[in-house]
Amino acid sequence: MNQVIDVLMKRRSVRAYEPREIEAEIRVEILKATLRAPTAGNMMLYSIVEVTDQKIKDQLAVTCDDQPFIARAPMVWLFLADYQRWFDYFIASGVDELCRQKQVPMRKPAEGDLFLACCDALIAAQNAVIAAESFGIGACYIGDIMEQYEIHKELFNLPQYTFPIGLLVFGYPTPEQLRRPYTSRFAEKYILFENQYHRLSQPELHEMFAGNEYRFSKGQGSEGIANFGQAMYVHKFNAKFSVEMSRSVRLILKHWLG
Ligand SMILES: Cc1cc2nc3c(=O)[nH]c(=O)nc-3n(C[C@H](O)[C@H](O)[C@H](O)COP(=O)(O)O)c2cc1C
Repeated sequence: MNQVIDVLMKRRSVRAYEPREIEAEIRVEILKATLRAPTAGNMMLYSIVEVTDQKIKDQLAVTCDDQPFIARAPMVWLFLADYQRWFDYFIASGVDELCRQKQVPMRKPAEGDLFLACCDALIAAQNAVIAAESFGIGACYIGDIMEQYEIHKELFNLPQYTFPIGLLVFGYPTPEQLRRPYTSRFAEKYILFENQYHRLSQPELHEMFAGNEYRFSKGQGSEGIANFGQAMYVHKFNAKFSVEMSRSVRLILKHWLG
């Protein structure tokens, strides 16, 4: 194994942190590695908002589906898919005038541009995660940043062509976090296909998920639930936070698409 593979294999999400700041020079190295991420057309279709204000961290800990560890993270970075900068630059470069001369409408950032910008933002975010891990700093994605758009838009002053696609929280892991067992992954044969997509049959699905049944236990909130699939549907897919995320994303899309 080489060092890069070693870092990738040892990474895990870290949700409890030592009460210790991330050193300034290490933060700079993480940032440099983040900004070296591949980016569509070399356009860097993303922005990072570093959250240093404890009041904002406290608020995020609530608005991102009540996850208190967000408030305790020494470093918090919000990743935005960002076409605003380029669109503003097009205007500043007189593209609107050019379009008027040519008598064609000026194209605005649309769905494809948004997806491309999301790719850029998340690829950069993952560079940050791996760079941090290489310094022994743990990180955790907070997907719930896509919820509560109205609040986050106001909180971060988000213009039309920005999309809050990911929040990363970083910190040195507590010893307990380092002792946590690694999460499992599905077997490769269910994930990697050759040449064509393979839609899994019911028996294949049951075989694939068989190793996960232990994650389902009868307890509070499991009334009427018989297996892992039903539990995941009720507690994740159809949970309040998932429904809120879709509502919020619908609103962001509406805003982006004007
Ligand atoms: C897009 C995305 C969103 C996530 N959102 C959250 C979150 O809101 N809260 C959280 O505790 N973990 C979150 N995670 C972390 C996952 O729960 C974690 O990656 C997964 O359980 C696998 O564990 P591991 O990262 O330790 O291998 C998120 C991960 C990703 C990739």
